[in-house]
Amino acid sequence: MNLVSVLIATTLLFSHSSALKEGQTCVIGRNCDSGLHCETCMADGNVRPRCTRIQPLNPTSQVKGLPFNHYSWLTTHNSFAKLGVKSGTGSLILAPENQQDSITSQLDNGVRGLMLDMYDFMNDIWLCHSFGGKCYNYTAFQPAVNVLKEVQAFLVANPTEIVTIIIEDYVTSPKGLSKVFDAAGLRKYWFPVSRMPKNGGNWPTVDDMIKKNQRLVVFTSKSAKEASEGIAYEWRYLVENQYGNGGMIAGSCPNRAESPPMNTTSRSLVLVNYFPDGPDFTKACKHNSAPLLAMVDTCYAAAGKRWPNFIAVDFYKRSDGGGAPAAVDVANGHLVCGCRSISQCKGNMTFGACDLPKPGVTPGSRPAPESSSAYNTSRRFIQLWWFLGVALVTILYSL
Ligand SMILES: *[C@@H]1O[C@H](CO)[C@@H](O)[C@H](O)[C@H]1NC(C)=O
Ligand SMILES: *[C@@H]1O[C@H](CO)[C@@H](O)[C@H](O)[C@H]1NC(C)=O
Ligand SMILES: *[C@@H]1O[C@H](CO)[C@@H](O)[C@H](O)[C@H]1NC(C)=O
Ligand SMILES: *[C@@H]1O[C@H](CO)[C@@H](O)[C@H](O)[C@H]1NC(C)=O
Repeated sequence: MNLVSVLIATTLLFSHSSALKEGQTCVIGRNCDSGLHCETCMADGNVRPRCTRIQPLNPTSQVKGLPFNHYSWLTTHNSFAKLGVKSGTGSLILAPENQQDSITSQLDNGVRGLMLDMYDFMNDIWLCHSFGGKCYNYTAFQPAVNVLKEVQAFLVANPTEIVTIIIEDYVTSPKGLSKVFDAAGLRKYWFPVSRMPKNGGNWPTVDDMIKKNQRLVVFTSKSAKEASEGIAYEWRYLVENQYGNGGMIAGSCPNRAESPPMNTTSRSLVLVNYFPDGPDFTKACKHNSAPLLAMVDTCYAAAGKRWPNFIAVDFYKRSDGGGAPAAVDVANGHLVCGCRSISQCKGNMTFGACDLPKPGVTPGSRPAPESSSAYNTSRRFIQLWWFLGVALVTILYSL
């Protein structure tokens, strides 16, 4: 094969595959449709790079106006702990890193729940991990105000979006949290504790929250701050399963120690954690795939037949196909219209009157099973193009 034919083949590859669907073979991210990126999942035995989901469908643009607790939101665990960053102190980070991209990028991809660990540090509030409850230079990521300003900019630019921040709260300085949220310009978006349902009732509708511009929901892990600073104590409003390895045992969904039992229906919101004790970049693509979907089902049963409102993972972009964004679509489908994906929900439809998704049309639907010879043929073509693309890159590098 000469260089010219490889060039032609590669040009065809890039034009042909500019909008590959989930599961199709790719070379780089821009081969894939929007909301997808290109990656392998070795932990699941998938060595072929394929387009995988990094965005859930926006449930409120599919069906508007339901109570806040009738939707599910993609949530990142330790959202601030970005792979490969240096500490704001200038030190190297010697602490677990759980995500691949910035808060702004996460929000742009449809993440709507952020789990942030906040500490008093260097006369400010920092996002940090700790040894024995203390923040050090080499575990401190950056001042919290930086990240909160990213949230503020997102809320300004997206006037119909709602963001939830769940704080693992180690702040003891007087009004420390209030000050940092004020400094970030987030006070005007604050959803007041007084409007949160106390006895398992519905939340206000998302339309109402948008109209009143109360689009920031904040929970703290410190109960006293509800009275002292008006910051909702997390487990008065939501139940949450065990996090870490203890929350990854198939078929079991115990509550985390601080949370009431999963089936406590006086809490209107349900949060499902699914990530190991230590973040595992290699295995995250496997964890975020079939095992996550299975745990969502298990926790649905444990929570008294309630689908999760928040699904929290490490490395949310990693999966072998649909991943955490697809799990959120499933939860939203059940919550919003009684179907197994939000892509099947329409305004005004009867609950549970589900259409079958149209293959190749519905965003996020998996490609048809390998039953048609046409599909096999096109797959082989794409694999050929992929091979040729790799061959060209190899040749160019060796020139
Ligand atoms: C931590 O970082 C700050 C800011 O860069 C620096 O002033 C301080 O000396 C550092 N502390 C240690 C123990 O390295
Ligand atoms: C809630 O779950 C517990 C087990 O965690 C069970 O013993 C109890 O009967 C359940 N309560 C209801 C009302 O289903
Ligand atoms: C739902 O029904 C109402 C009243 O019949 C109508 O005004 C509205 O446009 C419908 N919405 C959708 C999404 O079909
Ligand atoms: C498609 O390919 C798979 C193996 O890759 C094979 O099992 C299947 O029979 C093929 N289907 C058709 C219709 O050719």
